[in-house]
Amino acid sequence: MTVQIADHLPTDGAAAMRATCTPTIAAMEGSLILGIAGQVRKLAEAGQTITDLTVGDFRPAHFPLPDGLRARLHDAVDAGETNYPPADGLPALRKAIADLYSERLGLRYSPESVCVCSGARPPIFATWALFVRPGDKTVSFLPGWNSGYYAQLFGSDHHFIPTSAADNFFPTVEAARAAIKGARLVVLNSPLNPTGTVISAEVLAGIAEAVVEENRSGRGPCILMYDQVYWALTQPGVVHHNPVSLVPACAPYVVQVDAISKWMAATGLRVGWAVLPPYLQERMKAYIGHVGAWAPRPEQVATAAFLQAPGALEVFRAQLVESVGQRLHRLFDGVMALRAEGLPVDAIAPQGGIYLSFRVDLIGARFATNEAIRRWLLEEAGVAVVPFQAFDMHEQTGWFRMSVGAVSMADIEGALQRLGALLRRG
Ligand SMILES: Cc1ncc(COP(=O)(O)O)c(C=O)c1O
Repeated sequence: MTVQIADHLPTDGAAAMRATCTPTIAAMEGSLILGIAGQVRKLAEAGQTITDLTVGDFRPAHFPLPDGLRARLHDAVDAGETNYPPADGLPALRKAIADLYSERLGLRYSPESVCVCSGARPPIFATWALFVRPGDKTVSFLPGWNSGYYAQLFGSDHHFIPTSAADNFFPTVEAARAAIKGARLVVLNSPLNPTGTVISAEVLAGIAEAVVEENRSGRGPCILMYDQVYWALTQPGVVHHNPVSLVPACAPYVVQVDAISKWMAATGLRVGWAVLPPYLQERMKAYIGHVGAWAPRPEQVATAAFLQAPGALEVFRAQLVESVGQRLHRLFDGVMALRAEGLPVDAIAPQGGIYLSFRVDLIGARFATNEAIRRWLLEEAGVAVVPFQAFDMHEQTGWFRMSVGAVSMADIEGALQRLGALLRRG
């Protein structure tokens, strides 16, 4: 006889979940961006023309994997590289990452500093788990990616530090210094999701120096988590800075987070890593091992071989930066042309990542919230964007993230035309 599970389950699932899970997990929120993506999908399925600028991902039809990576992935599976990898990654990959950081970022870490994981999220989660106790002060800057969710999960006393468009959505050195006092974990990301802007050497050095001072103050350890998953996607002429290059004395306190997800257009392969001092790496390895969040072995073998193939990454990266940049610059130019017509929009010139900061300046005039503007753009123009509220900002400023990873140039032309028509109609 087959047991019908549904007959034995509580009728009010939500109430049963609340009674069963811990309060922290019961209160955990899902991703707002995924909620918006669901709405976009429904409208598209209903036949509406939509340019989907919401997803922080690559559509493989527009942005395929590097050929050399795909081929090596097949080879690895065929060669039987399919058992458990070491919990902190295959030695060949850890060495390839240490070499990459030495050659591209001028940082000579040993392979013992590298902890390979399944994408960038596990080392981010592990960093919170390693250093943050409930009630500890943690800091991130607004807008920013996902820190609110982690702060809620770890019960920290989280401080969101505001920034402004005039400062490229990074903090001033003064604001960052004040915030870092007493903090146990400082979360920083550049190139920044959601804005597509890049931190200046001056501000990053100021933050790194403040972290060193905090650690020497006797108040307790203060870790800087530097999330640079878009570092290899900076636009030509833009420099990606690193806190350890600028202020080497901060090396004992910095966890660098990175992945092939974005700069190899490989979000689904799940290869990421932390680079951190060996005295901390060993704890991260143990934690990642218990969670089982290691990267799949064939992906590790293929990534190591691809990174070590002379010129392979540079050739791929140049193409990717060009095709991402072409889309970002077309969107930016299009928005600025609408602005030149006197329409209430603005944008910040693309610097890095796959995002453009886009503003519709109608708060107070016609709309009360970013959410109302978002729906108007989606429903009336088929232009799907993500409000900065999805990045922990509460202020209603009319700023949105546009992401180009899932669209063609033709999609962008269509979006600009429909956007212009909607704004002119008012
Ligand atoms: C700033 C930032 N960090 C980390 C991640 C997570 O990357 P992964 O897919 O490798 O876990 C993302 C993904 O969108 C991101 O934007």
